[in-house]
Amino acid sequence: MSVPSRAADGFSAAYGTDPAGLWAAPGRVNLIGEHTDYNDGFVLPFALPHRVVVAAAPVPEPRWRVWSEQAAETVEFGAAEADDPGRVDGWAGYVAGVVWTLRSKGYEVPGADLAVASDVPAGAGLSSSAALESAVLTALADLGDLSLPVEDRPALAQRAENDYVGMPCGIMDQSASIRAEAGHALFLDCRTLAIEQIPFDVAASGLAVLVVDTQAPHRHAGGEYASRRRACEEAAALLGVPALRDVDDLEGALAKLPDDVMRRRVRHVVTENQRVLDTVDLLRAGRVREIGPLLTASHASMRDDFEITVPEVDLAVSTALTAGAYGARMTGGGFGGCVLALVDAAETERVAAAVAAAYAERGFTAPVWFAARPGAGAERIE
Ligand code: GLA
Repeated sequence: MSVPSRAADGFSAAYGTDPAGLWAAPGRVNLIGEHTDYNDGFVLPFALPHRVVVAAAPVPEPRWRVWSEQAAETVEFGAAEADDPGRVDGWAGYVAGVVWTLRSKGYEVPGADLAVASDVPAGAGLSSSAALESAVLTALADLGDLSLPVEDRPALAQRAENDYVGMPCGIMDQSASIRAEAGHALFLDCRTLAIEQIPFDVAASGLAVLVVDTQAPHRHAGGEYASRRRACEEAAALLGVPALRDVDDLEGALAKLPDDVMRRRVRHVVTENQRVLDTVDLLRAGRVREIGPLLTASHASMRDDFEITVPEVDLAVSTALTAGAYGARMTGGGFGGCVLALVDAAETERVAAAVAAAYAERGFTAPVWFAARPGAGAERIE
């Protein structure tokens, strides 16, 4: 059964009535620009065809019930719980966080019954949580007829995650889920929030983006993410700039920093921003294959300077490159998750099989893979 049907059927089974509508929001892969978003830098994600679908209907009082197919449970909360960050925890916290962020900004959020189904792999670094936030936000905005400009929505969803759930993420994932367009990568300036839709029709170039879910467990991802973010903020303060985005003279900046770890963190962010700009230039010129070396350089920088990769991730990248990929890198926050590789479309399966064979040889859990096409952003689908 399709994801929308599962959400609609789940709604009917949970609440004994039909939903008023269905809303969907995608997961994402990030083509390039990692750990740059919270440094006011540049990112270039695209939306996946994999989506979270929310079936929903308004109720007359301020209370919310949410059934999740994946969790196989219904969670109910009222205004008091929604208004108290962290009070609703686990998966439903992302939903309560969206209610909270809207209410605290003065929006008249309608009470609602919601049912959630998804085919975005959870815990794989493909932003299943941002997809959930974005789908719920889009549904509540429509149900309540809230005047909520699309350009303001990513920051609201991000705030739900930062301040209700307590994860200090940047704005990339929610922006991709809400603002992406099919067939395009989303070039986002995370300082100004200016966007440009960059045509990214890999199939037309005879290419494919192979996404390998390494199945590597996220090791300490939350704490490591927060510590990387802190190091970047400390470095910016030491350098006397608002954010690492503002470092123009890399060598000069490195010379001012007190220790080698901080120097490497800064070098990653500054060089990664440049790689995003270079990738965008190549894509604008239709030179898709040529972005490969930038992807691979991004990976080396994450591995050696930002130190956020794990052996499963590094093996998938090196194996894909040996098998003929034009470029490959980890995508997402790190410490596990997914790798993407730019390959000739006809070679996709062969490269994926090479990674699987390398994993078997090392005794790693078998990876899962798919070829990703840039999908649409959040929308009402029924
Ligand atoms: C996670 C965060 C994003 C971003 C990436 C790293 O996905 O949610 O905001 O920082 O990591 O690029």
